[in-house]
Amino acid sequence: MSFQSEKLGGHMAAAVTGLDLNRLPDRTVRSALLDLLHDNLVLCIRGQTLAPPAFRDAMAQFGSPMLRKQLARTVECAEVNIISSEDRDELGDGRKIVNGANWHTDDSFMREPCSLTMLYGVVVPSRGGDTQFTNMYEAYADLPDDTKARIDPLKVVHKYSSSRKLTHVSTRPAEEMAAMPEATHPLVRTHPETGRKALYLNPNRMERIDGLERTESDRLLDRLIAHSTQARYQYRHVWRQGDIVIWDNRCTMHKANADYPEGERRLMHRVIVAGSVPV
Ligand code: OGA
Ligand code: MN
Repeated sequence: MSFQSEKLGGHMAAAVTGLDLNRLPDRTVRSALLDLLHDNLVLCIRGQTLAPPAFRDAMAQFGSPMLRKQLARTVECAEVNIISSEDRDELGDGRKIVNGANWHTDDSFMREPCSLTMLYGVVVPSRGGDTQFTNMYEAYADLPDDTKARIDPLKVVHKYSSSRKLTHVSTRPAEEMAAMPEATHPLVRTHPETGRKALYLNPNRMERIDGLERTESDRLLDRLIAHSTQARYQYRHVWRQGDIVIWDNRCTMHKANADYPEGERRLMHRVIVAGSVPV
């Protein structure tokens, strides 16, 4: 089994061709793919045609796939969720919902957020619908030393429906909403695999910085968000049908764009794999 790889963005993201994940990668290929992901933060595997169970099995090479009941799932495989142009807020106002329309990292309201997310482009629109990414290692590295010293020890409370959120999040049954977790995470986290420090922000889920007055907390969070989402930290993925894009939620943020032509379909299959408590 061999494959080719190329850089996509100037400072993050790489693409791999020549693999058919219907055949599980051997150990050498698997570790080469993981190295590419760790070095590039976002890894695109081109040209796949995978039924949901085969998609899950291939992604299980990179971690333990988890169930996510807030999202629709495929009938063939419970661990494969669906992100689609047909998504509606079924339990709320019934309107179209765009999952991930603002900058975020997946699952930060949980104690143990997923480490990786894998999105597989089953049907992609003729134009638009790109996914944007931002490099949180670089965003951290570029901060002035006094800012780093100030933020290194800080912790942030994240929740599913934060009062700072920018998007309409899908309505969940009342008992599920009541039981929605809240989690406190470091503002700067150390990646368990690479040892590098990254800003850990989620504009959609952060409620406040522990121990700061609300206005001071809001001001610092707004400043860090504006800094880390500057164009120079970004990579924008233009989807091709059959792409699997794997991103590392521990050192990136991402954002969906619902700007594709009205009436066109966008259908993504999605798997997340288990992570650990951020430190
Ligand atoms: C996600 C997500 C972005 C997109 O699946 O977590 O944010 O472009 N998706 O669909
Ligand atoms: Mn997301």
